[in-house]
This record gives sequence, structure tokens and C-alpha cells, in this order.
Amino acid sequence: MNFASLPETRAGLHTVADQASEFLESLSTRHACGTITPMELFRAMDRPFPEDGSPADLVIRELINDVERGLVASASPRYFGFVVGGATRASLMADWLTSAWDQNAQVYTTSPAAATAEVIVARWLIELLGLPAQSSVGFVTGCQMANFTALAIARNAVLERAGWDLGKQGLFGAPPVVVLMSECGHATVRSALLMTGVGSAQIRDIQADSEGRMRLPALEKEIRRATGQPMILSLQAGNVNSGAFEPIDAIVELVRAENAWIHIDGAFGLWAAVSPELRIHLQGVKCADSWATDAHKWLNVPYDSGIVIVRNAAQHRRLKTSRCSYAGEESEDRRDGSTWVPDNSRRARAFVLYAVLRELGRSGVREVVERCCRLARQFAFGVARLPCAQVLNDVVLNQVLVRFSSPELNDCDAFQREIAGHVQEEGRCWLGTTTWHGQVVLRASICNWSTTEDDISMLLEALAQAVRKVMADAPSLRVDAGS
Ligand SMILES: Cc1ncc(COP(=O)(O)O)c(C=O)c1O
Repeated sequence: MNFASLPETRAGLHTVADQASEFLESLSTRHACGTITPMELFRAMDRPFPEDGSPADLVIRELINDVERGLVASASPRYFGFVVGGATRASLMADWLTSAWDQNAQVYTTSPAAATAEVIVARWLIELLGLPAQSSVGFVTGCQMANFTALAIARNAVLERAGWDLGKQGLFGAPPVVVLMSECGHATVRSALLMTGVGSAQIRDIQADSEGRMRLPALEKEIRRATGQPMILSLQAGNVNSGAFEPIDAIVELVRAENAWIHIDGAFGLWAAVSPELRIHLQGVKCADSWATDAHKWLNVPYDSGIVIVRNAAQHRRLKTSRCSYAGEESEDRRDGSTWVPDNSRRARAFVLYAVLRELGRSGVREVVERCCRLARQFAFGVARLPCAQVLNDVVLNQVLVRFSSPELNDCDAFQREIAGHVQEEGRCWLGTTTWHGQVVLRASICNWSTTEDDISMLLEALAQAVRKVMADAPSLRVDAGS
């Protein structure tokens, strides 16, 4: 086996830099999701498992070629699906260096630089998000893992308050933990609960209002019903569909008499804290016990990057009770990143956060967040003027829900899917569907640092064109079909 020499590696990295730059330059013109079928893609990428290795430059050249038509332009300013950010320039470059440096951010000794970046970024984030100064921070892969980490700590804490030592006695036979959350809460909170041993019977789904927020009278009733039990409240700062915020301060008041743990799932909504005009939605956020958010959404760093923040560092530290025999001692001035997350060996994600926060500064993050919200309003204003369109949510953040309906249609859900399909197929923009209060609707999420008014105009154009096309091409969706 011949590994590339250092000069060959340098040349290869330059070639990759050129290829990556070409990809970035193509984002404004390339098809938003590609048109390759799963079988074509599989055929393009499949090879017999090689008995012998190949030169790195050949492997990389072929990789670039083979995957080309299966790449999604999710970093493009015209990708409005899921809740996806792009990657700012400094964050991308720092991400490359993170790979080249190949640091293990497990403990201080395995990378003093990564550990120190974590300390500094933790402080910056707490300051930027306006959270209690003494809080502890863990760097994970995404908000699913941030929710999982926070809810595991929450479970331990509320059981401890009930006199149950989970570390010693385990979960079997423990007093049941009750979790109160909106019926519209994010699926990852439910998965996190399941993974922490909290079953669906212990989750009290609180009836939600039209924006997906818990209805306070319904919540109050459930709090009374669960009083005295170990209790966790999981609140949404930014519903994944509507962008709505739970009334955090009112909920904090409601539950004050209980010794409950309040967790905030703020995958993107927590970033509203950076804006004086948006932070009104987060009143009371500081009173929570834990917060989960993503950096790969609104902070626009490359995948993957999630953040968990816990008010009580001592409780956070007890997430793990065992220490690897070879890890050495942790001390006040030597942070061990793996103490604060489920992982042991791990990527040094804090370099990227360090870079993006320096690149943008407080004003830059604020500008990105506020611009996205302004563009969401522009989109909502424009789309409401299209025939048969109705904007279904209060556009308080960066999320817009739209449904096209007409008495002429016999299957409105299929109509939305067809429209999204046409927008995707046409390829200038990417827009998806979601389910909202039992109906299929179109959802636009504006999260990318580089999206402009022109991109929104293009989305409106693509949408209008798709509606016309579906109306013309899909007579089966009409009430009079077959008559
Ligand atoms: C509110 C909310 N919570 C949690 C998640 C899960 O985040 P991730 O996919 O980064 O794990 C998302 C993702 O969109 C979200 O919007």
C-alpha cells in the first residue's frame, strides 16, 4: 500500500479546494436537489469491495464524480426545506482545519487547543444567548443529542429530588417521571425521552393552540394532576413548523410551586435572543434549567453542530460517573469536553464555532437572524397574494406555512405534495411539505446567511408556476374528475 507523499497530499488538498470552490460557485445555479433516481445513483456509486487500495487522488476524483448528481444544494440561499442553514466562509474553513488537525476533543490532554476553544465558545454563547452566566455547555452533533443530554440530566435531577439515586439504584423501580410538552413538540424530544427511559405513557401531551403552543389552561390542569411527582416540562422556543414560542414566562409562573425541571428545545428559536426586536418571544427563558440548540441551523456552520446548556453545572457534570482509566485527571483549568456530553472520543467542533462567532460577531449573528425573519415576512406577504393560497401561521420568526385550497379540488393534501414536487423538480428552489394540524401544508424555512430578497422573489415565482402547472396537469385532483 502506497500512501500519498506529503507533496502529493498538498497537491491533492489544493485540487480538493478547487473542486469545493467550484461546488460553492455552482450553488446559485445548480439544481436544488438533483434529478437522479435512487437506482442510477446507486449504480454510479456502487463498486465491488476492493481487495487492494487505490491512490488517494484517484479515489477522491472518482468520489467527486460519482456523488455529483446525488448532492443536494442545501447550503444554497434558495434551499427552504427542513430547517437548514448554510456554512459561512470562516466556519467552512475552520471545519476543514478541524479535519486536518484531527484532534480528539475527549479530554484536555488529547487537545489543549480544542478544550480551550470549548471554554471560550461556551462563555461567548451564554453571553450571546442571554443565559445564566454560571451555566455549563456541551458540544454535541445536533439538537437531538442536545435534547437527549439535557433530558437525561433532567431525569436524574428530578429523581434525585424525589429521593431516588439513579446512579446507584438505576431506573427500574424508580418513581415514574412525568413529562409535560406540547402535542406539537418536536419528535426528537420524544425520542430523547424514550432513550432516557421515559415512555410515552409518562408523556402528557398538552393540547396546543393554532400556532402549536401549549394551551395554558390545559397545561395547568395537567400540572395539578401530576403535582408531587418528579416532573419535567419541555417547552418549545420556535416550533419546527410555525416558529411559535411557548409563553415561557407564564409557564414558569404556573409551575413555580412544583419542583419541576424546565427544558427548552430551541433548535433555532433560541437565536431570537440576539435580536432586540425578537427577544420578546423569549421572556422567562433564563428561568429554565436546560436549553438545547443547533449551530448548523441559524448559526450557519457545516454539519454537524449542536449545543446543550445546563444551568446547574454540578448536575450536568453528574451526567457521567465513570472515567476512562487512561484519561488522567480533570482540573479547574483543564476542561474535558467529554464530561459534558454522551460521547467519549469526539470531533473538535468548537474550532468552527470559535471561527463563526469571530467572523460574525454579535452584530453579524443578529443581522443574519433578523434578515431571515424579514425575508420570511416578505415571502408570507407575497405568497398570500397567489390564488388559493392561505398563510396558516403567525409569521413571528423564519417559518412560513402555506396551504393552497380551492373548492374545485378533491384532494388538497395531494395538491400540496404535487406543488412541492414541481418546485423541487424545477430545481431553482427547494420547498417541502409538513403536516400541520392534520393537514399537509407547504413549509418555507429561511435560515441561510446568504438568502436575499431576490431569492424569495424566485421562490414566489417558482411556486406560482408550480401551482399553475399542477392545476393544469393534474385534473384527477379536481372535484369534477371523472365526471
Ligand atoms: C425545534 C427542533 N428541535 C429539534 C430538532 C432536531 O435537530 P437536529 O436535527 O439538529 O438533531 C429540530 C430540527 O429541525 C427542531 O427544529
